[in-house]
Amino acid sequence: MFTKEFDTRVKTTVKIILPVAGVVAVLLILGFRNTVTDVGYRPQQPVPFSHKIHAGQLGVKCVYCHTSVETSAHSPVPSTSTCMNCHTLVKSDSPKLKLVRESYETGKPIEWQRIHKLPDYAHFNHSRHIRAQIDCSSCHGKVEEMGVVAQNKPLSMGWCIDCHRNPTEFIIPARPISGIFTGVKAGKYDPNAKATLAQVKALTEPQFGQWETEIPKNEVPGIPVPKHPGYGPENCSSCHH
Ligand code: HEC
Ligand code: HEC
Ligand code: HEC
Ligand code: HEC
Ligand code: HEC
Repeated sequence: MFTKEFDTRVKTTVKIILPVAGVVAVLLILGFRNTVTDVGYRPQQPVPFSHKIHAGQLGVKCVYCHTSVETSAHSPVPSTSTCMNCHTLVKSDSPKLKLVRESYETGKPIEWQRIHKLPDYAHFNHSRHIRAQIDCSSCHGKVEEMGVVAQNKPLSMGWCIDCHRNPTEFIIPARPISGIFTGVKAGKYDPNAKATLAQVKALTEPQFGQWETEIPKNEVPGIPVPKHPGYGPENCSSCHH
């Protein structure tokens, strides 16, 4: 039907176009798959550790294991020795804890898979949020009900800014299970309490969202200061520096 020359031309074109289209498709899929905003991301962990058992049933507070969350940017996953505080006695020969015992003997840390991870150009600091009495569940969901931790919020820029503009809507005030400084007297916790806002002061004319909150400076470094949360920043450099 077609001339032979035309036929081979079509064939070579198809031979070239198909693989190129395939490569482009793969790149597009990889490019658009955003691991940062991946709600529900739940990697397989090396040890079947359950927050539902430890925090939910046993009532171990979050800060018992995630110790530096009040004082530093990161709240690392606990070291094996924290586990062995209990597991030298409890379930000491459980096969599920084999890796934990090995790690304790060899001193080689367990290789937990990281779940929440911002890109390097965005900076997040736990301590600032925790000292403002923002409960972990505002950003991580009810971890004490999770058998396996899954990402609960998108961690996108829009998500950060939504709360910074309307903190009362998004903040869950500190709950006892978190064990973070609450400023709430024991037994007086009110689950329906709304976060109270500090006064917000405009620096000058608001330019590119340049606002400053009236946040008291820490009097003693390392010791959490009881206070009510203010508005978070909207100026680019506070998160991208
Ligand atoms: C007995 C120790 C222990 C307690 C108590 C505990 N955690 Fe964890 N947490 C871990 C370990 C171990 C991991 C890493 C394994 C995993 O993801 O399940 C982890 C992981 C996490 C992660 C995911 C970290 C990542 O990679 O992004 C979050 C979020 C978290 N915990 C929040 C909490 C909160 C909130 C509480 C309190 C309700 C809490 N944890 C109580 C030990 C603990
Ligand atoms: C405060 C004490 C305590 C700490 C700290 C603790 N555990 Fe546990 N863990 C327990 C208890 C108690 C159980 C048994 C719960 C049950 O079966 O009712 C348990 C059960 C487990 C189990 C299930 C064992 C089985 O055979 O069913 C695993 C796995 C485990 N823990 C891992 C860890 C890891 C990993 C850490 C450190 C990140 C840790 N635990 C820290 C008290 C603790
Ligand atoms: C205002 C939101 C927010 C609150 C409140 C919050 N987190 Fe996070 N958390 C994050 C973000 C965002 C990340 C990812 C940080 C990164 O990649 O730099 C994260 C990461 C983590 C990680 C992984 C290790 C790390 O530090 O990057 C753990 C564990 C964790 N959070 C535990 C907690 C616990 C426990 C609490 C409560 C005491 C808490 N978080 C409160 C937003 C929050
Ligand atoms: C649930 C509400 C909430 C979410 C979500 C949240 N923030 Fe905030 N953030 C606040 C509040 C409230 C403050 C002011 C705290 C105070 O008054 O001390 C704040 C303060 C800050 C500050 C200024 C303090 C400092 O360390 O310089 C930065 C930066 C910041 N947030 C970054 C982020 C980033 C990045 C994210 C998203 C990954 C995020 N925040 C998500 C509520 C939130
Ligand atoms: C409260 C913290 C915060 C502030 C303020 C902020 N950003 Fe971001 N920004 C983030 C986070 C977190 C991400 C990563 C989101 C992701 O990977 O999905 C991000 C991502 C980005 C990206 C990468 C593209 C994208 O959407 O993934 C650009 C560009 C950017 N920000 C520009 C800006 C500019 C310009 C401003 C000032 C108007 C600003 N940001 C203010 C937290 C912030």
